Amino acid sequence: MKRVKRIGVLTAGGDCPGLNAVIRAVVKTAINEYGYEVLGIRDGFAGLIKKNVFPLTERDVSGILPRGGTILGTSNRDNPFKYKVEKDGKTEFVDVSEQVIKTIEYNEIDVIVSIGGDGTQSIALEFYERYGVPMVGVPKTIDNDLGGTDVTFGFDSALQVATFSIDKLHSTAESHHRVMVIEVMGRDAGWIALHAGVAGGGDVILIPEIPYDIDKVAETIERRVKKGKRFSLVVVSEGAKPKGGDVVVKKIVDDPTMPIRLGGIGNKVGDEIEEKTGMETRVTVLGHLQRGGSPSPFDRLLATRFGYHAVKLIHEGKFGQMVASKGNDIVNVSLAEAARNPRRVDPNSDIVKMAMALGTGFGI
Ligand code: F6P
Repeated sequence: MKRVKRIGVLTAGGDCPGLNAVIRAVVKTAINEYGYEVLGIRDGFAGLIKKNVFPLTERDVSGILPRGGTILGTSNRDNPFKYKVEKDGKTEFVDVSEQVIKTIEYNEIDVIVSIGGDGTQSIALEFYERYGVPMVGVPKTIDNDLGGTDVTFGFDSALQVATFSIDKLHSTAESHHRVMVIEVMGRDAGWIALHAGVAGGGDVILIPEIPYDIDKVAETIERRVKKGKRFSLVVVSEGAKPKGGDVVVKKIVDDPTMPIRLGGIGNKVGDEIEEKTGMETRVTVLGHLQRGGSPSPFDRLLATRFGYHAVKLIHEGKFGQMVASKGNDIVNVSLAEAARNPRRVDPNSDIVKMAMALGTGFGI
């Protein structure tokens, strides 16, 4: 096995709180513990396509632990296997992966730490399988939908924003005797809505894994009115859909490499609740507030542990792997397991049953 001298680190996909904490832990562990050099790669895989890499020192990562975003920049497009180019006035998607290999070779990068979600880890896996590029993944996303790990960093920080927002809506809903609908992110997974909904005392929680019936939603709200509760909080995941229906797409983007842009289900549900119950209903869409700002202490710790363990994996020569959280331990799982098995809420899980037992409606 070739001795590792230089590692590259990139952040790709949507940003989330904790990315800088991972970068800091990777750089410090690599330099202090193993004497590796570290190169930062700008804007995810785009940096490897455009040869945009630079040395990262301990000084560069000083003070970044509590900072949101990523000092490396990120991109949720720029898949080197389907890279968008304009040719003769036409858009084409071409394979520029050999350009990435050239950048890796030219800069003598022995291994890459890819910090990202399912899309990023799928690309890392393809480089590992097709070209044998040594890759170590670190799981990030506010959606908490990556396979192989109990939790991703970023989720807890997003949860805090969502929960505190529900708390704030609670008081104004109560004063005005209104229904407050809050739309949260999460894509095809309902983790943010479910956990924030339970933590914030949501009266109705709608998630993609449990398609809803709007009449049942209205029944839950009206039942509360009969009990003297003249307000309700409805937490809706952006990927929630009615039984037999489909998700609400905010914008169709003309780029097959881009994920569908979800958004708008909160307003749809809000309009229907007002129509069915006659109660004044207001809608709040939390959007990217969930992705910004300082990571929670839990996420700082998790991100730091992930960064340290990623470099330890490199030292042990374990490539094609992703660090993961299992119980109280940090372990490693194959990139394939992580990328190919998305985590979804089990409708029969204890937390869903518990919420139902407490009277929370799921629209069923
Ligand atoms: O995957 C993270 C996430 O924030 C999703 O919850 C959301 O659907 C998507 O990214 C939004 O992406 P963008 O930043 O491209 O709007």
